[in-house]
Amino acid sequence: MAKTALVTGILGQDGPYLAKLLLEKGYKVYGMMRRYSKPNYEHLDYLGITDKVDFVEGDLNDEASLINLVRNLRPEEVYNLAAQSFVGSSWDQAKLTAEINALGVLYLLNAIKFFSPTTKFYQASTSEMFGLGNTNGYQDEKTSFHPRSPYGISKVYAYWMTINFRESYGIFTCNGVLFNHESPLRGIQFVTRKISDGVARIKLGLSKELRLGNLESKRDWGFAGDYVEAMYLMLQQEKPDDYVVGTGVNHSVKEFVEEAFKVVGIDDWHKYVVVDPRFKRPAEVPDLKANAAKAKKILGWQPKISFPELVKLMVEADLKRYEAKK
Ligand code: NAP
Ligand code: GDD
Repeated sequence: MAKTALVTGILGQDGPYLAKLLLEKGYKVYGMMRRYSKPNYEHLDYLGITDKVDFVEGDLNDEASLINLVRNLRPEEVYNLAAQSFVGSSWDQAKLTAEINALGVLYLLNAIKFFSPTTKFYQASTSEMFGLGNTNGYQDEKTSFHPRSPYGISKVYAYWMTINFRESYGIFTCNGVLFNHESPLRGIQFVTRKISDGVARIKLGLSKELRLGNLESKRDWGFAGDYVEAMYLMLQQEKPDDYVVGTGVNHSVKEFVEEAFKVVGIDDWHKYVVVDPRFKRPAEVPDLKANAAKAKKILGWQPKISFPELVKLMVEADLKRYEAKK
């Protein structure tokens, strides 16, 4: 019998990559999406798996919808990837962010506790929880949290609730504390995709400038396709635990910009980039860099795609998208 997994956030960036991996491993994959009059399957189409996923409707804000799904499907594994995931919007929509990212996780955990307690649960935790916290310039599983956004705060609640269900009820729950991971499926609001898209447009003469916020902040950027393997591996271990996942190398936004313009053969990138205060945040997370030694040792996980390869992959995908539209 095929193993079953319920993946929330199936139409986002990570959901499709994870679904593809699970399908390749022979799983039956249920993809949870909100109710839409016109759902957008573009990301699943991009990976060629739209027809292979079983879609189910549910909303993290609607507890009964989660109870129904868990009770009816009783999946062996639940990967909770759904979230209001854009940090920048979380100041303006702090309540909604908390409802989805914090309370939504509680609802899902309760549904598992009451209706399918042997289900293994993965929570999409994040390096944003660290905020200003660091241990000798890196963040690892023992680094203290000092979140800087309503998004980061909502995820800290979910992180501890995930641990609490493990400690209180013996449910197999794991937090993947993932650092930034990107791909051609990244939402256009996030800085990497905004840059890759902007650079492609400038190269093709469709745009004259790229407006960005803080160019100095540093992120540990990896490839989403690599990171979903870590999610899967966490749920295959004998014991549930929490893991930091990242490359251990970080770059500034400015370095990402330089690298992206390099891909299209433009050296004088300063001519095109405008710093616009509208894209700066009320409180910034200046410097994230993972120490993923535990994931390497216990999960045997390592990233495969380097920073220059990632930037190239994203810029070339955006060039291709625009060229296809010509
Ligand atoms: P994403 O592209 O923004 O996808 C999130 C998905 O969640 C979207 O498809 C969205 O659905 C869905 N969603 C939002 N609110 C929902 C609700 N109330 N009920 C059900 N579904 C809802 O995010 P991602 O980059 O794939 O990230 C996946 C998860 O990892 C998120 O939880 C994120 O916070 C976390 N994370 C991401 C990173 C990263 O660098 N990518 C790093 C650490 C942690 P719609 O399509 O309907 O909007
Ligand atoms: N989005 C955006 N747009 N960010 C900008 C811009 C801009 O125009 N200019 C500079 N930045 C800076 C941000 O201030 C931040 O320091 C950095 O670029 C990265 O921003 P995002 O790409 O929006 O990602 P994030 O780091 O805030 O959050 C992402 O990674 C988290 C993991 O650390 C999201 O995927 C979160 O969901 C995830 O948890």
